[in-house]
Amino acid sequence: MTYYRRVGDIPRKRHTRHDIGGTVMAEELVGEEGFSGPSSLLYHRTSPSAIVSIEQADVTPATYTPNQPVSPHHFRTTKLPSGAGDAVTSRIGLLGNSDIQLSYVTATGTSPLYRNAVGDELVYVQSGDAVLESVFGRLAVGPGDYVVVPTGVTHRWVVGAPARAQLLVFESRSHIQIPRKYLTPTGQLAEGAPFSERDLRGPEPEPLLIDGSDVEVLVQTRDGYSRHIHRDHPFDVVGWDGCVYPWALSIHDFEPIVGRIHQPPPVHQTFAGVGFVICSFVPRLFDFDPDAVKVPYHHANVDSDEVLFYSDGDFMSRAGSGIGIGSISLHPAGFIHGPQPGSRERSEGVDRTGELAVMLDTFAPLGVSEAALDVSDPEYPWSWAGGR
Ligand SMILES: [Fe+2]
Repeated sequence: MTYYRRVGDIPRKRHTRHDIGGTVMAEELVGEEGFSGPSSLLYHRTSPSAIVSIEQADVTPATYTPNQPVSPHHFRTTKLPSGAGDAVTSRIGLLGNSDIQLSYVTATGTSPLYRNAVGDELVYVQSGDAVLESVFGRLAVGPGDYVVVPTGVTHRWVVGAPARAQLLVFESRSHIQIPRKYLTPTGQLAEGAPFSERDLRGPEPEPLLIDGSDVEVLVQTRDGYSRHIHRDHPFDVVGWDGCVYPWALSIHDFEPIVGRIHQPPPVHQTFAGVGFVICSFVPRLFDFDPDAVKVPYHHANVDSDEVLFYSDGDFMSRAGSGIGIGSISLHPAGFIHGPQPGSRERSEGVDRTGELAVMLDTFAPLGVSEAALDVSDPEYPWSWAGGR
């Protein structure tokens, strides 16, 4: 749920005639939880239901095998294939379960028009500039942005200059929300939350209004991918209002919460969904008690698998493990993880960290793809023991 926005030309009352130049606009309610949850109301020049063909799409969903025998992993995204591709059809699935899947993509060109009918998507921009064009308009994003694309929104990713963007993509089976603990009873971001409404960016105020006919849209459902050919271009919306739309939050606008002694990961929480949370680790002052141990204590996340994407900076707690920018670690339930040897000693006398990382904690075990196993560092599981 985000705050109310209003864009373009809409009538004063909902569900009343909206006549522009003799044409009555077609209303579309994008509503979650049937007609009971957050929604937006869009006004199209033509019927958004007018399709002229339905085809099977030749997109193969990623498959995941159980992480057995259970093992920690270090995946190097820098070793993944990164040729020409787009932000939707070139995704390389890495980890997944029935609640969420995580993929990585290097986009060099504009994606097809796409809507995901399974759940919300969250895209973290690791590098490059891009524009998310959707029925709601244009949203420009860049490095460090989280971009939430609600379920069912027809959109495409336009990659800017230089024509290359690296994206970490979370495809959820649920809606991705701002954590309840940050909100007042009426839904405002509360004082003390690590970000505020001023940090949330929505689509630009000008509608896209793109003309076209016989326009392909790639549709993802739980059973696979289809292609719908729309008679008219879906980006024909003259105006909309409501609380459901694509939005962005920069990780650089996340204000860290620090303490005299170590604060647990929930202070870094940024998003919540069914079966998972997503957290941001940003540059911050270390714990300031003279006796504080500044690196995280060993922990057994008995109810979750923990995935960390290392976006930028130094990662003191992982020094010596080979982890660097572009790495993804997976510390599954059943494995007790903690700082690598020497990390605590190195942290003494240091008063801040420049690390930038995105964490996904899932409450069901994650399966691993072949593509992920191909870039998994075989030595990582032994890095705490100083070798096998
Ligand atoms: Fe952890």
